[in-house]
Amino acid sequence: MHQMKDDIKYILADEKKIEGTCEKLAAQINADYPDHDRELVFVIVLKGSVFFATDLIRRVNRPCTMEFMKVSSYGSGVETSGFIQVSLDLKRDIKDADVIIVEDIIDSGRTLQKLCSLLATRGAHSVKTCALLDKPERRQVDMEVDYSGIVIPDEFVVGYGLDYAEYYRNLPYIGVLDPSVYSE
Ligand code: PRP
Repeated sequence: MHQMKDDIKYILADEKKIEGTCEKLAAQINADYPDHDRELVFVIVLKGSVFFATDLIRRVNRPCTMEFMKVSSYGSGVETSGFIQVSLDLKRDIKDADVIIVEDIIDSGRTLQKLCSLLATRGAHSVKTCALLDKPERRQVDMEVDYSGIVIPDEFVVGYGLDYAEYYRNLPYIGVLDPSVYSE
């Protein structure tokens, strides 16, 4: 029987590494947002960030809220298109809130750059970014992540929320997809 793990060339971040990274990032956020008087809202970018967001935010030890957005940049293929489209927007006002955008990965940087400017125009008190994975070799715009988890090489990764053609998101670890899967 064909199993998902047969399509994985090697594991880049196992469950332990992911857990440690979530702990590290949550500790940084806990230290940076001690003021409970202002709302801290996590804007979770669907779909890839869902697993990361739940593991991260469960470790945040102060009151906070969660909102969701959906933007598209890849389609169903491997290469980034260079354009993003907001297909699900926030349903509420974020004026005066401290915002942290939660992403599974920063690649070209276009998605986070565009989202940061968009949310800043809506009157947020501050907008910061948190990404589990960072592929600096792929950057096409000048964009740094405030809370950065694991720097990875320019390989096609899946698992723990990241997909290829919508599959593999449910792998509990992050692995490099065997090129034979997408070059067939
Ligand atoms: C991925 C990822 C980021 C974006 C990063 O989303 O979740 O949103 O691409 O790429 P960039 O830095 O080049 O802009 P994707 O469009 O694959 O959607 P998904 O999360 O629903 O899989």
